[in-house]
Amino acid sequence: MTSYNRDGKVGPWAREKLDCLGRYLREYTKIMKKQDWCRGYYYFDAFAGAGRNAIRQLEKKDNPNLLPLEISSMHSNDPEELSYVNGSPFVALDIEHPFSKYFFVEKDHHRANELRSIQREYAGSRNIEVREGDANQSIRNFLFDKGINWKSCRAVMFLDPFGMQVPWSTIEAIASTKGVETILNLPVGMAIQRLLPKSGDINLAQREMLNSYFGSAEWEELLYEKAENLFGDIGITKARDSGERLVGWYRKRLKKLFGFAPSPRLICNTKGSHLYYLFFAGPNETGAKIAAYILNQGQALRR
Ligand SMILES: C[S@@+](CC[C@H](N)C(=O)[O-])C[C@H]1O[C@@H](n2cnc3c(N)ncnc32)[C@H](O)[C@@H]1O
Repeated sequence: MTSYNRDGKVGPWAREKLDCLGRYLREYTKIMKKQDWCRGYYYFDAFAGAGRNAIRQLEKKDNPNLLPLEISSMHSNDPEELSYVNGSPFVALDIEHPFSKYFFVEKDHHRANELRSIQREYAGSRNIEVREGDANQSIRNFLFDKGINWKSCRAVMFLDPFGMQVPWSTIEAIASTKGVETILNLPVGMAIQRLLPKSGDINLAQREMLNSYFGSAEWEELLYEKAENLFGDIGITKARDSGERLVGWYRKRLKKLFGFAPSPRLICNTKGSHLYYLFFAGPNETGAKIAAYILNQGQALRR
């Protein structure tokens, strides 16, 4: 169980992801509102959460390199103002030029109810549909909805699970429309590496999960190498740069499927541990250029 599931709180690094999302959505809608041919452009948040997230309080001693914003949020006298961060639904709703329609999907009943109250709050100014249930099923219903013609409609899909809930088959279905720009997280540090022990001793259930997640069994050859141990025996061991290999491979495959997949943004926690990579994949070159600019800004300084 992730800490978000346990207490519904997020780490301060969630702001970085949400900032990238908000900036992309603002640019996207500015462009789309001028496209007369377009019959509708939608925002689809497949793992929407509750809408507003409490920021987990951290001790400054945990990381002396915290950004000023993070420190101020930890020592504020006004927790209501500084300890909450608007989650992805609010980020999308609060942009200046709204989407034609917003879809918020959430499996957890309590969080889905929170989303329904946001729907009421925004009634009259934003067209919102809340879907309680599984993201993958809901994505398919949306993509293959007979009322949506992808020649004249467009969408931004946000895939923000905390684990490996999005199999490659869903990614393929999204790309097949040629009308959906996708922002997704690849939980390399949070979930994937945990299934990949150094020894290469992977059980059947783990192997099946990885195969389904990547839509291929090639990850094993990519990440594990033959190596000689102290006694001269040949064994299998995980490559030292397995994380980078995985990210490069995943990106190459996204690019092949969608057309464009710029270099992703690495999101770390306040201790500098890798959490996940934020990717953009889409069929449109302009969209990809904007995403590349946003995702790469500030990254060079952190490396
Ligand atoms: C990382 S949180 C989302 C945070 C949100 N995107 C934000 O930025 O504010 C992931 C959410 O996905 C939900 N979830 C997990 N598995 C799901 C599934 N299969 N279908 C739909 N929602 C799911 C969880 O209940 C959780 O609220």
